[in-house]
Amino acid sequence: MDHLFDPSKNMYYPPKEILKKANVKDYESLYKKSIEDREGYWAAEARKLEWYRKWDQVLDDSRKPFYKWFSGGKINIVHNALDRHQKNQTRNKLAIIWEGEPGDVRTFSYHALNREVTRFANVLKAMGARKGEVITIYMPQIPELVVAMLACAKIGAPHSVVYGGFSVEALAERIEDAQSRILITADGGFRRGKPTQLKKIANEAMQRSATIEVCIAVKRTGEECYMENDRDFWYHDLMGMPIANAGCCTEQTDSEDPLFILYTSGTTGKPKGLVHTHGGYAVYTATTYRDVFDIKPEDRWWCAADPGWITGHSYIVYAPLINGATIMMYEGAPNHPYPNRWWSMIEKYGINILYTSPTAIRGLMRFGASWADRHNLSSLRLLGSVGEPINPEAWKWYYEVIGKSRCPIMDTWWQTETGGFMITPLPVMPLKPGSAAKPFFGNEISIVDDHGKEVKQGDEGNLIIKNPWPGMARTILGDPDRYVEKYWEKYKEQGWYLAGDSARVDEDGYYWIIGRIDDVIKVSGYRLGSAEIESALVSHPAVSEAAAIGLPDELRGNIIHATVILRQNFTASPALAEELKVHVEKEIGPIAKPSFLEFADSLPKTRSGKIMRRVLRAKALGQDTGDLTTLEE
Ligand code: PRX
Repeated sequence: MDHLFDPSKNMYYPPKEILKKANVKDYESLYKKSIEDREGYWAAEARKLEWYRKWDQVLDDSRKPFYKWFSGGKINIVHNALDRHQKNQTRNKLAIIWEGEPGDVRTFSYHALNREVTRFANVLKAMGARKGEVITIYMPQIPELVVAMLACAKIGAPHSVVYGGFSVEALAERIEDAQSRILITADGGFRRGKPTQLKKIANEAMQRSATIEVCIAVKRTGEECYMENDRDFWYHDLMGMPIANAGCCTEQTDSEDPLFILYTSGTTGKPKGLVHTHGGYAVYTATTYRDVFDIKPEDRWWCAADPGWITGHSYIVYAPLINGATIMMYEGAPNHPYPNRWWSMIEKYGINILYTSPTAIRGLMRFGASWADRHNLSSLRLLGSVGEPINPEAWKWYYEVIGKSRCPIMDTWWQTETGGFMITPLPVMPLKPGSAAKPFFGNEISIVDDHGKEVKQGDEGNLIIKNPWPGMARTILGDPDRYVEKYWEKYKEQGWYLAGDSARVDEDGYYWIIGRIDDVIKVSGYRLGSAEIESALVSHPAVSEAAAIGLPDELRGNIIHATVILRQNFTASPALAEELKVHVEKEIGPIAKPSFLEFADSLPKTRSGKIMRRVLRAKALGQDTGDLTTLEE
């Protein structure tokens, strides 16, 4: 299929069938129109959804940067994801195909999913859930996780999903910040053949943050776990009660009512609870999904992320359901029991589109092509990548071995804050391996220096977004000042959004993301803050000070390197280093466990006391430490 590849430009062209059937055929002209009349473009997209009441104003920018979209409108995302499909043939279509790691399979039609969600919404109400209160969800990747999210949204209670791979402190901190009274969890899930202990972690977290009054647990693994009287209830017991059968109507929420809180790591210690809304988020995710992944009624879609991250919120749950797609979900590890697990499921279920992370691709690439080659992957039409820059070798392997050189790869750049894709190819666009291509409709994006001057073409600089978009996070829960400071302060005069990434743009207008400019570390595509890891280390009695940095790693993108200063009376030893690593794992989760941990007598700091992580990084990599004039004596 060499004719699809132009080596002189290192460009890959889309196959004819994709061009013929694409939902969007001409990017440039539609892009131009969307920029000339941004509000008109988004209003037209919004009209494709069902509203209880139409909006008065598309964009309200009277309180910048606290933008409002579709204000005055009444909508519930669940009405668009489930209720409206009950009126047509989508009702009988598969909404979810789920496979557990042990091999158990469950499927839900749109009708069945709606029924389950309605029942659980009744249960939540019966347990005292109120509109507007944040409900925390801490679950493995099982269908009930999706049911729980949708049931919260249905009654207008924002959900706060905490990734099931997080541990005690991470969970406790998020419960506390959101002041959640209700926690939905499970006894555990299966990962690499073993049951995880979610309820046990949840029990410890509930002890640390005392706000939880009701805990509902799904029985998944059947492992023994402690259930506290009058606080803890089994999901299945509650769902079996007559109260579950009441007719729960979907709450008519305002466009700007919060749909969910999602915590993400930033530069300072405490994770930020980003707030997304019912209206703008529904419009933005539904549009980006339909245009970028070219979704067709007969498609089976697999976003192999965890619903606990923004990728899962937007593109496992909400956008696919709004578009009436069939969603594939898998509970466990990609290489369990063998490295062909994913490829066998693509063949078994006839998956048409696979969306995953560079880390997952690199991880599977390690085992060689033969695992994929023994499966018929001809159902695939499109591929996708997200979470970190994809290196050209991994891109080519994905393209050739998995996509058989006929499935374009949508390398989508976006963030928890943006709600949906911001820079992305469309299926009709020529692709360059490693580039996320061009801005999505309505978005003007640029690369600028610290003073806001556009850098020369090809030069590295700060990635900024010049305009508001409907899917943007509206604020940080309980801390609007931090929202302003983190994203809008730097280019306040211009009113631009600072993404926190550095990037460059080439002669064809293609964007190349380089990485974070702040102290956010991307490990296997997961986002962690240096400060989070440091505060976990300092919570150990032996540690007086700590610094965490990310170092490049071929497989995981980055790995964590920690430098620790011990308190008096503690002696450095390999055993203590291991104990500290395990401590971080126990507090935050396995993804945060440092790969290296070294002891030191002091940390390089500026005169104002800030840790110079740049110096630590250079030292760990054996590089020149650069300008040290600001270093404290
Ligand atoms: O550095 C960018 C990287 O992931 C960051 C956002 O992380 P998070 O909020 O966890 O959301 C991840 C999933 C949307 C960005 O600031 N990133 C995300 N997608 C890409 C990427 N870097 C390069 N290429 C991408 N396609």
